[in-house]
Amino acid sequence: MKQEMHVTNQRYRLGYHLMTKGGWMNDPNGFSYFKGYYHIFYQYYPYAAEWGPMHWGHARSTDLVHWETLPAALAPGDMESGCFSGSAVPHDGKLWLIYTGHHYIDPKDPEAFYEDQNLAYSEDGIHFTKYEGNPVLRVPKDNTKHFRDPKVWREGDTFYMVVGSQGADGCGRALLYRSPDLIDWTRCSVLAKSENEKTEGYMWECPDFFPLGDKYVLLMSPQGLEASGDDYRNLNQTGYLVGTLDKETHVLAHGKFVEIDRGHDFYATQTMETPDGRRVMMAWMAAWDSPMHEKEDGWAGALTIPRTLRLAGGKVYQSPIREMESLREKTLQDGAWEAGKAYALPRKAEICLRFDAAPAVLLTLTDGTHGLSLAWEAEKNRLVLTRKTKDGVRACTLSAAPHAVRAFLDQSSVEVFVNDGETTFTERIYFAGNVTLTAAAQEGAIYALEAETNTYGTDAAEEETK
Ligand code: FRU
Repeated sequence: MKQEMHVTNQRYRLGYHLMTKGGWMNDPNGFSYFKGYYHIFYQYYPYAAEWGPMHWGHARSTDLVHWETLPAALAPGDMESGCFSGSAVPHDGKLWLIYTGHHYIDPKDPEAFYEDQNLAYSEDGIHFTKYEGNPVLRVPKDNTKHFRDPKVWREGDTFYMVVGSQGADGCGRALLYRSPDLIDWTRCSVLAKSENEKTEGYMWECPDFFPLGDKYVLLMSPQGLEASGDDYRNLNQTGYLVGTLDKETHVLAHGKFVEIDRGHDFYATQTMETPDGRRVMMAWMAAWDSPMHEKEDGWAGALTIPRTLRLAGGKVYQSPIREMESLREKTLQDGAWEAGKAYALPRKAEICLRFDAAPAVLLTLTDGTHGLSLAWEAEKNRLVLTRKTKDGVRACTLSAAPHAVRAFLDQSSVEVFVNDGETTFTERIYFAGNVTLTAAAQEGAIYALEAETNTYGTDAAEEETK
């Protein structure tokens, strides 16, 4: 019998981010609300801290910040060699998972595969059964083998699905389908597509499509964009198109692709609409080229904190969900701020800073060896994050000089929100010692955050199904 991985060293374990109890995690999947719980699933391999035959890990929460890990919801089996990314939707008293079946054709060649879309369902939101009529959707003729990551939602009596695809011309695209019952799917359109594999991508992974403000947003992770100045510096990027939807043709008329997070460790987003109408997003807090030093300790990967999205000036802004404030355990600094002073931070902390006139260096976060700084080049309108690692610089322009920074430190990660979420940077930083913060701010607050929001027992789940 294969042995599940166990964590062998706590040094990088996160406090309030969702992680596996051991083993590998990548994309968030199936972000949904069902029978009183938020559910999040994720690409999961329990037997090594490396990517492997994909399972769906699973956790649920009543407040989006305390997560109870449940047994894996899906494991690869006779039907597929991997259960790749997908989504979840409640229907008929059940929670339905729509996932990509990844099928190897030649065991010696990882590039020889095909992909299709499949269903699984559950009445208790814990135990899932794969639908016996799988697959429910096969790759269309005008496509290559890349056909994955279905995101399904409901509008009235109709289900819609957006799927990541590579067209026969070698360019990435998002295909739109509809169904009355999740089983029979009809293609509506090519919702949007890349015109050039190097500037717009050869494959669009993890598409998600939703109204925001008075527009529609197509969020996705294109592969193959070549780095250009400060843009597209990671192996693959995640970003969005904002536009208007033609309800007859189901085609999105949109503007330019914009990266949604400018940090090193952010990929493969998924959103959901909360019962109170917020559009909330989570992402994998890593990227395929991230070093993930926690692999040495028997685990790899985590999800970002949930972020509420809003549209302003044609851009998608992100704010930490308001429930994050419930994690504040202690106020360590309350508003008065000494510019230049090195403030000692606990390893789980929230920092809120206000800058009246943007200084050249806004802040530095360091343990002496590892860390980051955030700088403002006023003449270029350029905000520059420098992480003390190889290829450490990530930068972007802003619509106004930086006046507010909110940052979440969690042991080996930092998420930075600038100007009320106009820009974010998500970073893993493998701090080894005590961390201090120096900031040229006019005002600032520091909160110590609750240290552990993950539980891994399955007792409650077992109890409920007796
Ligand atoms: C994105 C991705 C998806 C795929 C999954 C496999 O990170 O490559 O396209 O479904 O990961 O684990």
